[in-house]
Amino acid sequence: MAPKRDRTQDHYSDVVLYDYEYRRRRDDVNYYAALAMGELPPESEILELCCGSGRITRGLLRKGFHVTGLDLSEPMLQQAKLGISRLPKRFRDNATLHKGNMIDFDLKRKFPLVVMAFNSFEHLYSRAEIEACLQQVKSHLTPEGVFAFDVQMPDLAWLLKDPDKRWARTKFKHPVTGQELAYSTNHEYDPVTQIAHIRLYYEPLGDGPLKETRVVPLRQRKFFPAELRALLHYSGFEVCSHNADFAGDKLDEFADSQVLLCRPYKL
Ligand SMILES: C[S@@+](CC[C@H](N)C(=O)[O-])C[C@H]1O[C@@H](n2cnc3c(N)ncnc32)[C@H](O)[C@@H]1O
Repeated sequence: MAPKRDRTQDHYSDVVLYDYEYRRRRDDVNYYAALAMGELPPESEILELCCGSGRITRGLLRKGFHVTGLDLSEPMLQQAKLGISRLPKRFRDNATLHKGNMIDFDLKRKFPLVVMAFNSFEHLYSRAEIEACLQQVKSHLTPEGVFAFDVQMPDLAWLLKDPDKRWARTKFKHPVTGQELAYSTNHEYDPVTQIAHIRLYYEPLGDGPLKETRVVPLRQRKFFPAELRALLHYSGFEVCSHNADFAGDKLDEFADSQVLLCRPYKL
């Protein structure tokens, strides 16, 4: 029997659609750029893990930083390359992209800032993967360096939604084909592994290349706040701030997300 194909990266195969879906997501771009401006001297080196199609990368480059981006997805890296090539020369020459896995990479350099934006940490599914990634982050950080990332706040009502219904239904036109599509999602949450097994449905409504509903699987590991702080602590990170959003609001029961700044403990 042929081995089962790993489909965890399928969500990142239609890169134009990805960029279209998240075109209005700017708070994180502004946040990571402002963080770098506040923490680092001009033109410093930044490592961006899971850089994807380069949304955050371009924001950092535009502020004059040198950015090394790492991602597992070839299509995402190609899209990042394209976006960066459209920046003015003085910015685009400061970017380096690598294909690699965040749990196992060695760039043989250290950075004063490592960022991992937009729930990418939720692609770490087991404790072994989390620990391996945090180990890599630590070994790529300078002693005073900062690790900044954001994940979602687990929403108990959302986790328990009926997996047989479709949620968040919206209509849109595919940015390349112009075909009218309906988007919806559902998921099963496994409380033992804390992984949400999500399905994204793209249903054709009008004529176009998509003839039947495309179902894209997506797996997200959910992190509860105290658990996340413990994982960071036992992996050698001091949590300097743990907020509810990019504006710095206090983490409470109304939070949708968790935005963290950490530093390696001093030995
Ligand atoms: C939600 S996207 C975020 C992309 C980008 N940071 C942004 O803000 O738009 C998650 C990214 O993580 C990448 N990714 C998932 N697992 C990975 C792994 N093990 N190592 C490196 N990249 C990974 C995916 O290819 C995807 O580009």
